[in-house]
Amino acid sequence: MVKICCIGAGYVGGPTMAVIALKCPHVEVAVVDISVPRINAWNSDQLPIYEPGLEDIVKQCRGKNLFFSTDVEKHVREADIVFVSVNTPTKTTGLGAGKAADLTYWESAARMIADVSVSDKIVVEKSTVPVKTAEAIEKILMHNSKGIKFQILSNPEFLAEGTAITDLFNPDRVLIGGRETPEGFKAVQTLKEVYANWVPENQIITTNLWSAELSKLAANAFLAQRISSVNAMSALCESTGADVTQVAYAVGTDSRIGPKFLNASVGFGGSCFQKDILNLVYICQCNGLPEVAEYWKQVIKINDYQKNRFVNRIVSSMFNTVSNKKVAILGFAFKKDTGDTRETPAIDVCKGLLGDKAQISIYDPQVTEDQIQRDLSMKKFDWDHPLHLQPMSPTTVKQVSVKWDAYEATKDAHAVCVLTEWDEFKSLDYQKIFDNMQKPAFIFDGRNVLNVDKLREIGFIVYSIGKPLDAWLKDMPAFV
Ligand code: UDX
Ligand code: ADP
Repeated sequence: MVKICCIGAGYVGGPTMAVIALKCPHVEVAVVDISVPRINAWNSDQLPIYEPGLEDIVKQCRGKNLFFSTDVEKHVREADIVFVSVNTPTKTTGLGAGKAADLTYWESAARMIADVSVSDKIVVEKSTVPVKTAEAIEKILMHNSKGIKFQILSNPEFLAEGTAITDLFNPDRVLIGGRETPEGFKAVQTLKEVYANWVPENQIITTNLWSAELSKLAANAFLAQRISSVNAMSALCESTGADVTQVAYAVGTDSRIGPKFLNASVGFGGSCFQKDILNLVYICQCNGLPEVAEYWKQVIKINDYQKNRFVNRIVSSMFNTVSNKKVAILGFAFKKDTGDTRETPAIDVCKGLLGDKAQISIYDPQVTEDQIQRDLSMKKFDWDHPLHLQPMSPTTVKQVSVKWDAYEATKDAHAVCVLTEWDEFKSLDYQKIFDNMQKPAFIFDGRNVLNVDKLREIGFIVYSIGKPLDAWLKDMPAFV
């Protein structure tokens, strides 16, 4: 029986290994992590991450050919294939701070693999890493190998949160990069056979190591670029009276461009886009390509601009001050159907409003109060370190309260901001919300999910990203 071990039981490692276990009943899969609470949660009824469809799969496979454990060394030692899916946060200090990937967790995982191994292994990079990381890892393994042979593969994961299970079941492609040597080809073939249990062979792309590593950064940069492009257009739409949804539709019907990923929003979030672009920028700078670095940096600048613009719209519409006004935030996760808040635009919007002394009341169906408080008190770039390395009791931000109900959060509020596109926000009783708010009552829709005409009929002053502006808002331009 082939044995797989995955180091890192996070958003990538957990769902990916659960699907491999489901689709390959003849393979034994162990997911290991140094975080005891995380592994305990994977072994309980309350999984540590929310992902539609995941619980069913875990329940079907757990204890049969899927195991979650903190005994990292034992499972690594026994495995034929070791996936490494630890976090690669942005460096906060030293060389490349604020841009380069911090490979501390990766390096310690590699040293541990070399230390405990007693048989040959294939080591698979699953977390997104800078180009040429495989080479560095290879060096660590080779110099500590005691005669054991390691083959390094890059197998970046393209799943998106909220749709992880369907993405894993039907991937557009699986990408496997390896050394172009007989041993390298053999290792690629071994991993290919695992995926071939459910992915058509013509969708499994094989490349050299560096192409696979760079393709992942490039794919995320291209996707983020589409969002920044449509968000840049949204600002122009507001100034000209065009409607960004109509523009995006018209542009997206060009088959060369395509309709997906053109929804204007308050900004993109998530653990990947910004981090990977910063990484790309750093790699370009290190390789003497400042123009290319500047080009990609602009994608992040527009994303920051969009978040600032949103805050400025709120403040300027409300007579240029939100001091002591209650602002209700609907949605804190970086997108719907996940409880993940890493790099969510809600953090920047809330911090912007808190900077103007607003009282904030937040409701999100999947994010806990503890997480929100942690996010709002954490320093930029500290967000992607494992929970057990973050401050245990974050300082509570006093002007922030967290509610478990949208009606409670919006009661007596001056304004409502929709920051995540949760389906339930579309069907709230907005008449009831309006009746319980201060007047004039404002709604700022950062995801373009609400029925604007209906809201205006009720009496709200409405702002939707990239849509023709209310007369009220036209008179109060947002200064950025
Ligand atoms: C992304 C990539 O899609 C995935 O392939 C990669 O493996 C990891 O990074 P993820 O961050 O989970 O996945 O979610 P994604 O659906 O890409 O959304 C990222 C952000 O962009 C979210 O904040 C989302 O709300 C925003 N977004 C997405 C928009 O603002 N507009 C869009 O049209 C699409
Ligand atoms: P991702 O979104 O990439 O899956 P996460 O932060 O959700 O990232 O998960 C990464 C996991 O890796 C964390 O649970 C962390 O505890 C774990 N981890 C980090 N370093 C090690 C290590 N050396 N050994 C085992 N697990 C590790």
